[in-house]
Amino acid sequence: MLPSLLLLLPALSPALAWIPVEDWESGNVTTSVGESGQCVCHVYLPETSFPADRVQHMQQVSKDLILEVEIQMNKMVSYDAKLSIYLEELLDLTVRVAMLESSPDNYIKLDFELLRIELREFEALVSQLKDSFNSSSPLFDSLYTEIRNMTAIVNQLETYDKSNLEVIRIEFAKLQKKLEECQQEQEFTKPDIGNCNNTGIMDVSKPMVVQMNAHLNAGFQYGGWGKDSNPVRGYESMYFYGAYSSPSVHDFYLYSDYEKLILRSAFKHHDLPSGWEGTGNNYVVRGNTIYYQHNTPFSMTKLNMTSSKYDSRVIPAASQRFSYSYSDNQNMDFAADENGLWVMYASEESKGKIVLAKIDEKSFGIADEFNTGVFKQLAGNAFMACGVMYATRSVDMNTEEIYYAFNTKSKEVKHLNIRFKKFQESYTNLDYNPTDQKLYMYNNGYYASYNVKFNKE
Ligand SMILES: *[C@@H]1O[C@H](CO)[C@@H](O)[C@H](O)[C@H]1NC(C)=O
Ligand SMILES: *[C@@H]1O[C@H](CO)[C@@H](O)[C@H](O)[C@H]1NC(C)=O
Ligand SMILES: *[C@@H]1O[C@H](CO)[C@@H](O)[C@H](O)[C@H]1NC(C)=O
Ligand SMILES: *[C@@H]1O[C@H](CO)[C@@H](O)[C@H](O)[C@H]1NC(C)=O
Ligand SMILES: *[C@@H]1O[C@H](CO)[C@@H](O)[C@H](O)[C@H]1NC(C)=O
Repeated sequence: MLPSLLLLLPALSPALAWIPVEDWESGNVTTSVGESGQCVCHVYLPETSFPADRVQHMQQVSKDLILEVEIQMNKMVSYDAKLSIYLEELLDLTVRVAMLESSPDNYIKLDFELLRIELREFEALVSQLKDSFNSSSPLFDSLYTEIRNMTAIVNQLETYDKSNLEVIRIEFAKLQKKLEECQQEQEFTKPDIGNCNNTGIMDVSKPMVVQMNAHLNAGFQYGGWGKDSNPVRGYESMYFYGAYSSPSVHDFYLYSDYEKLILRSAFKHHDLPSGWEGTGNNYVVRGNTIYYQHNTPFSMTKLNMTSSKYDSRVIPAASQRFSYSYSDNQNMDFAADENGLWVMYASEESKGKIVLAKIDEKSFGIADEFNTGVFKQLAGNAFMACGVMYATRSVDMNTEEIYYAFNTKSKEVKHLNIRFKKFQESYTNLDYNPTDQKLYMYNNGYYASYNVKFNKE
């Protein structure tokens, strides 16, 4: 550890550089750092006759040296800790600089604009929450104050130091956490959660959260994030995330709550072992079990994160020939709603149209199947809500639309044009979550979520 640190420090930053050998050279006593990191002390005795006074001096010098080494070692430990923080900041900065360089329309400006949009949305949301609670709770007043403070900070920082964006992000995370608590409280008392007495989706909100993925890597275009649609006890506020630079799926991260997700502090990292890797990024988490597509053999696979057991099932009719329009290898799209777990695929028999299958969670078999009119390759993605399958497609760079709905109960088909904003053009994962009635999207390296409004008449 020590030698590599010595190499790293000067390379990283001259201010951190520390070269002990030079500091300690005092005449005929030199020190250096040995291969395994120990301090090596060389003493050259200049005369053949035994010079007691010099020995004494040397002993003093080496005592001082030992002390000095100890002090420097301690410094190193703290440098090491600082180093990892600097490295993270550097990585963050590098990503931003790379984004700036790769994009003509200044991402940092966009970040500020997004922050402002999010703040305005927070304010609207807080008003909504306040109304729906009919509350004069001081929590709301403090939220308002913080939103105003945040807006002031955003405006101030924009004109002055762009590298301080991380400060805002952390402030933001705290604010979002408070809001999340507020929303959870509301959702807990919200009579609509789990209630499917509606005639379908009526509207989709603006994107609520837009944050770069936990790897801070714009190259991680493929991925997914969201919440468990039927959490086991104690994991109600857990979030999952996985992202990669290709459609293949090889690991997942779990965060205990929203703040941990924003701060990129995972409590668990599942590395899919060789033979169990997935593909396509249309996974979903239900009952602390992650359901995803597996390619050899082509099958639906699950990892039960409670028991750490894997299992898979081949769907003979499912074809690997049909994927959604934004990404390759999306042959099996998993979804979960108030009615349970679903998988959507296309087959040769269906001529590339989506077949919707209900999964029996206990046996991990197909319980029911429905043919829909959606050509998989023309759809951007699809999801389930209240037993209805919704398919989306692109309208333009910034707009997506829900254009098709299939009701599994009535077998009724509806042609819709419910439009919603995208952050960036392409996305790989879109799923509804029945526990909070939100849509979760992994949009070209960014997290986004939407509120869904149902038609109650
Ligand atoms: C180091 O040793 C050499 C003789 O070997 C002597 O001439 C020289 O003065 C010594 N240097 C110091 C700083 O003691
Ligand atoms: C809100 O609270 C006030 C007093 O606390 C009460 O008079 C009013 O009826 C409440 N409104 C609703 C819609 O519950
Ligand atoms: C908001 O800003 C004001 C003035 O700058 C400060 O007094 C107050 O403590 C801030 N509030 C919060 C919650 O940060
Ligand atoms: C569903 O909603 C309608 C209209 O609001 C209402 O008349 C009906 O009683 C509700 N049904 C159930 C089962 O809640
Ligand atoms: C996951 O494993 C746990 C513990 O063995 C079990 O109770 C649960 O039913 C499993 N869930 C699924 C979906 O297989």
